[in-house]
Amino acid sequence: MHLHKYEKIWLTFGFAALIIFLSVVGVSAFHQGHTPSGGLQKVDPENLEATPPFDDPGVHEKEDGSYEVVVIAEAFGYTPSEIQVQAGAEVTFKVTSKDVTHSFSIVDTNVNMMVVPGQVNEKTHTFEEPGTYLIVCNEYCGGGHHFMSTEIEVVE
Ligand code: CUA
Repeated sequence: MHLHKYEKIWLTFGFAALIIFLSVVGVSAFHQGHTPSGGLQKVDPENLEATPPFDDPGVHEKEDGSYEVVVIAEAFGYTPSEIQVQAGAEVTFKVTSKDVTHSFSIVDTNVNMMVVPGQVNEKTHTFEEPGTYLIVCNEYCGGGHHFMSTEIEVVE
């Protein structure tokens, strides 16, 4: 097979570009510790009332000043409905769904989890600035999807 000189140049260029882009994605994923977001712990969505930690949804302050916030999503809201944490403290959100797939997305932060029935998703975040943060559902979950939101109060 005969390849024209320009064809060879473009093939080499295209192949090299592909290798470079894939390397950048691969190396940065390892370097920054990207992982699939949670989903490793399984729960029975029918039986959350009897499954720790979802038998006690809410804000739990730990001895070291950090928080564990246990959240259950269901059409079309979140339990607990009120969340208050201190600014500067580490907050770990553990979320699951009782019915269909929702999301737990805190506006202006990196917290953006899919909330799948049967799976537990977890994300840790530190709110540096006090204020009110909006949490919305980003997965279409039914007729009330656009009403599905709540807030986090971050206090001094
Ligand atoms: Cu829940 Cu959309």
